[in-house]
Amino acid sequence: MKRILIIGSHGMLGQDLAKVFEADQSWHVFAFDRDKVDVASEESLLKIIDEVDPQAVVNATGYNAVDKCESDEIEYELAKKINGFGPGILAKIGKEKGIPIVHYSTDYVFDGEKEEYDEKAKPSPISNYGRSKFLGEEEIQKNTDKFWLVRTSKLFGRPGKSAMSKRSFFDTMITLAKDNRILKVVDEEKSCFTYTPDLALKTKEIIEEGIPFGIYHVINEGPCTWFEAAAELFKIAKMDVEVVPVASSEFPRPAKRPKASVLLNTKLKPLRHYTKALKEYLEENYGMLTEK
Ligand SMILES: NC(=O)c1ccc[n+]([C@@H]2O[C@H](COP(=O)([O-])OP(=O)(O)OC[C@H]3O[C@@H](n4cnc5c(N)ncnc54)[C@H](OP(=O)(O)O)[C@@H]3O)[C@@H](O)[C@H]2O)c1
Repeated sequence: MKRILIIGSHGMLGQDLAKVFEADQSWHVFAFDRDKVDVASEESLLKIIDEVDPQAVVNATGYNAVDKCESDEIEYELAKKINGFGPGILAKIGKEKGIPIVHYSTDYVFDGEKEEYDEKAKPSPISNYGRSKFLGEEEIQKNTDKFWLVRTSKLFGRPGKSAMSKRSFFDTMITLAKDNRILKVVDEEKSCFTYTPDLALKTKEIIEEGIPFGIYHVINEGPCTWFEAAAELFKIAKMDVEVVPVASSEFPRPAKRPKASVLLNTKLKPLRHYTKALKEYLEENYGMLTEK
């Protein structure tokens, strides 16, 4: 039986990766989180990889506290370890043992000036988080040839089990709407939402089909701003909430975000539109009867 090693399995994406591989009898799944393997430790990675001897490793770990690592140097060092140097160590081990690595990066490696970015576009991050993820991209590419580097953006899905795991934008909007009939939402930062079960399935396909190694963009179709997505959400969910578009300056945050960072997928078959995925998410996780 084929063996897959998933690390960061308690995160939002990691738990869906474990689910899609477990649903297929041809894979023996080894899904671990930080309590069992530390992505920043060579010793820990070597031990688990030797134990499992996988056909591929999927790295779903991540440091995602975008604002915290902008204003705190110790946090930035941690971000560089988890998002940058750790993946580099993993890639080096992968190369030594001939095991391919899947690693995830983000639209935040781009500055937002060009608004749309294909797989060949040159990163130029404007935040510490973006710099830590770009470091990961460089470390992966420097240390192995056998990598699938998957850039994605605005993940949504069931919240991860881990304490650090962020709730998605849509969950936050639904919670806010319980106490507010009018919501101000930033009408900027146009980019693509990505449903974690869709991304997990596409990851499985990438490994199984053995497509050429390299950089890929995996996002759901339908770029939009936060405001546009909130308006779609309440329409689909048939919730009576008024959404008011505002500038990002109304909600100042320590880290800069790209003003638009639409990832263009020019290499793979596109995923479905994000509103279709959102309908499924609302029906399965909130039991909502959504708009037909
Ligand atoms: N969320 C987004 O919108 C987004 C957008 C673009 C790209 N991405 C990328 O997609 C990937 C998955 O993101 P996600 O949102 O699913 O992340 P997440 O929910 O925050 O989960 C990350 C997981 O990594 C684990 N982890 C943290 N440090 C670790 C370490 N040193 N060793 C082992 N495990 C560690 C965490 O466990 P603990 O709880 O124990 O810390 C957590 O289970 C990441 O690479 C992320 O950068 C995410």
